Amino acid sequence: MADGSPHFRPWTPPRRTAPLKLLPFMWQAWRDPLGIWSDRHFREPQLYGNGPLGAVMVVSHPEGVRHVLTENAANYEKGALQRRVLGPLLADGLLLTEGDVWRRARRILAPLFTPARTVRTSARMAEVCARRVEGWRLEQGARVLNMDSEMSGLTFDILSATLFSDELDGDAAGFEAALNRYLGVGARISPLDVIGAPAWIPRLGRLAAGDTARFFESRVASLVKARRARIDTGESAPDDLLTALLSARDETDGAALSDREVAANILTFILAGHETTARTLGWTLHLISRSPEVAARLKIEADGLDVAAPDWADHLPWTRAVIEEAMRLFPPAPSLARRALGPDVIGGQPIEAGTAVIVSPWVLHRHETLWDDPAAFRPHRFLPENRKAIDRYAYIPFSAGPRVCIGAAFAMQEAMIALATVLRSAEVEAVTTMEPYPVHQITLRSRDPMRLRLQLRSRTPSPA
Ligand code: HEM
Repeated sequence: MADGSPHFRPWTPPRRTAPLKLLPFMWQAWRDPLGIWSDRHFREPQLYGNGPLGAVMVVSHPEGVRHVLTENAANYEKGALQRRVLGPLLADGLLLTEGDVWRRARRILAPLFTPARTVRTSARMAEVCARRVEGWRLEQGARVLNMDSEMSGLTFDILSATLFSDELDGDAAGFEAALNRYLGVGARISPLDVIGAPAWIPRLGRLAAGDTARFFESRVASLVKARRARIDTGESAPDDLLTALLSARDETDGAALSDREVAANILTFILAGHETTARTLGWTLHLISRSPEVAARLKIEADGLDVAAPDWADHLPWTRAVIEEAMRLFPPAPSLARRALGPDVIGGQPIEAGTAVIVSPWVLHRHETLWDDPAAFRPHRFLPENRKAIDRYAYIPFSAGPRVCIGAAFAMQEAMIALATVLRSAEVEAVTTMEPYPVHQITLRSRDPMRLRLQLRSRTPSPA
């Protein structure tokens, strides 16, 4: 397909023409923070304001993003908002710790996610994907599927297989349901979080999620304990991430992670890795359902998928490009919040310690000064020959700098295998002209379940 063909332009909520006042802002931030962005955010490189909520700086130019996430990253900690929303369940995990505690854990965990180690999980991922597609029984007829729950189920199964070799022992469905409950209710931003009210003021949603949190804690703790016992008694333990986590040692002092840290990181990987990848796949399938020429490219690549080949990913350039373009338009983590620990200057603007600094992939990836035709679905821009033209700091679905997503290679591999497995078997079609309504609830989700029609691919019989 030449890049001159018409491109699909997915629907997105209208932008605000003027900033919101305090109360409507808080209401909007609770309902759906995507609605707080105004036209100016998508045109101006940065916007600074100092109002009743304190000083806030929104940075949307690659130089500024590089400064905050990489060059002067030591001056920025993750906002208290993220800790309040996701903690205490993940408090000791990699996502939420800071300073030396984070540095030590990152050092210990980094070897678990190298590309070489990740590629060892390809075959397991492919098996899980094939099982899910078989479960749709498309040979019996086309089906309309709720892609949100299908993709959540799929990415949960992949994590369960690669993290702890499916040792949830029949409890997987309960675990997954609890996870969705937690994400849907407990982890929602409360207006009290937006204004920074103390943690002891109860948040209704989070109280409701308390039981779910305890369920996770006890389930994961027993998983860790059982595996630790197997390793300690010299019984052969499965070659998965849990064994690797329990066996990992800090190269500087030989120390291991405590069981509490291991459990927090297992939950972190599940919470950070399952929902984000599922949403990536959902948005990607939505875009494909509206772009037959792109789907045709992907089907050709999917037919040649062979994860046994060490360089299988190199044969899927369109598949990778489509997923990357989907994450540009619908970044699963639409906003990164930081707080300045000391004064700084960003793009010529002095800021004080305590300033909230927001880098929003949602804004950056659709910024009018950074992208040609930002609203159009044009995977072509991410093909290997064009990708070099994209500034590293204009495209940050996995963030950048020292706190870059540790699971990025894992997630890309998983999304590529899943997409190719679906397209090898199925045509993916829209069921309605109505498009999904994106909302920001920690991740970028569709407000209503995303439903797509899948039917078995017809193949031209090969000549006898
Ligand atoms: C498409 C899928 C994914 C996306 C878009 C994504 C995105 C991100 C982003 C934006 C961050 C930085 C957050 C911040 O700085 O505030 C992050 C951090 C993190 N992600 Fe991912 N992620 C994905 C999949 C995964 C997977 C599969 C795993 C693990 C199995 C994972 C584990 C983590 C962890 C542990 C961190 C914290 C890293 C640190 O602070 O050192 N993510 N991710």
